[in-house]
Amino acid sequence: MKRFENQVAIVTGAARGIGFGIARRLGSEGAAVAMLDMDTEQLASAESELSGAGIETLSVAADVTERAAVEGAVAAVLERFGRAGVLVTCAGMTGQTNLNTHEVDPADFDRVMDLNVRGMFLCIRAVLPHMLKEGYGRIVNIASISGKDGNAGMLAYSTSKAAVIGMTKVIGKEYAGTGITCNAIAPAVVRTAMVDALPEAQVKYMTDKIPMRRTGEIEEIAAVVAFAASPEASFTTGFTFDASGGRAVY
Ligand SMILES: NC(=O)c1ccc[n+]([C@@H]2O[C@H](COP(=O)([O-])OP(=O)(O)OC[C@H]3O[C@@H](n4cnc5c(N)ncnc54)[C@H](O)[C@@H]3O)[C@@H](O)[C@H]2O)c1
Repeated sequence: MKRFENQVAIVTGAARGIGFGIARRLGSEGAAVAMLDMDTEQLASAESELSGAGIETLSVAADVTERAAVEGAVAAVLERFGRAGVLVTCAGMTGQTNLNTHEVDPADFDRVMDLNVRGMFLCIRAVLPHMLKEGYGRIVNIASISGKDGNAGMLAYSTSKAAVIGMTKVIGKEYAGTGITCNAIAPAVVRTAMVDALPEAQVKYMTDKIPMRRTGEIEEIAAVVAFAASPEASFTTGFTFDASGGRAVY
C-alpha cells in the first residue's frame, strides 16, 4: 500500500540520521519529498541516494533557525509541487551533555532551544497557512524520551524536547477542527552520528534504561512517523507516540 501517493512531505534534518530515514520511508510509500537541511554537502548526497531509488525529491538548503530561510524554503516547495500536506520536523541537536545543571553553559542552552524549539516553531508556522487553505495537514514533530522523562546530564536537550511535546499539544488543539493534525514521536536512543558524538557514559546511561536492552533502529522510528503522517491517522492529535523500547509506558 502506498499511503503517500500524490502527497508532498517536507522533512527537516533530512540529510542524515533519523530525518533521512523518514524521508526514505515516506518516499518509498509514494511521497514526493522536500529534504530540508543546512548541511549542503550531506544533503546533496542524501538527495541523490533517494532520487536514485526513484523517489521524487527536492533538496532545500536552509537553516531552520532563520525565519527568512524557512519561509523561503516553504515557498520553494510550494512553487515546485503546489502543495505540502506533510511536515516532519526532525532537525535537532543535543548540545553539551554529561554535565549537571550548574555546569551548563547558557550560550549552549540558547543554541539548543533555538534549534529544537524555535526552529521547529518557525517551520510549522510557515507551513500552517497552506495546510489551512487545503483543509488538510499532518505535522509530526520529533521529540525524545528525554522530554518525557528528563535525562540527567542533558538539561538543555531534555528541556527543549519537553517544550516540543508542549508545543505539539497546543497545535493539536488549536487546529483540531481543520483537518490538520499535529503529533510528536518520542524515541529513545538510536545510533546515529548525533549519538556517536556523545560521551560514552551518557549513551550508556540512556541505553541502560531501555527495557528491550537495545537501541532503536532508524527504520523503527520512521515506521511510527509514517503512521502519524498518514491520512489514516485521522483521530489522533496533540499526542506523543512512544518509540522507546518500553522505556515510556505513558
Ligand atoms: N538519535 C537519537 O537517539 C535520537 C533520540 C531521540 C530523538 N532524536 C531526535 O531526532 C532528530 C534527529 O536526530 P539524529 O540522531 O538523526 O541527528 P543527526 O545529527 O544525525 O541529524 C540531524 C540533522 O539535522 C540537521 N540540522 C542541524 N541543525 C540544523 C539547522 N539549524 N537547520 C537545518 N538542519 C539542521 C543536520 O545537518 C543533520 O542532517 C533530532 O531532533 C533528535 O533530537 C534522536
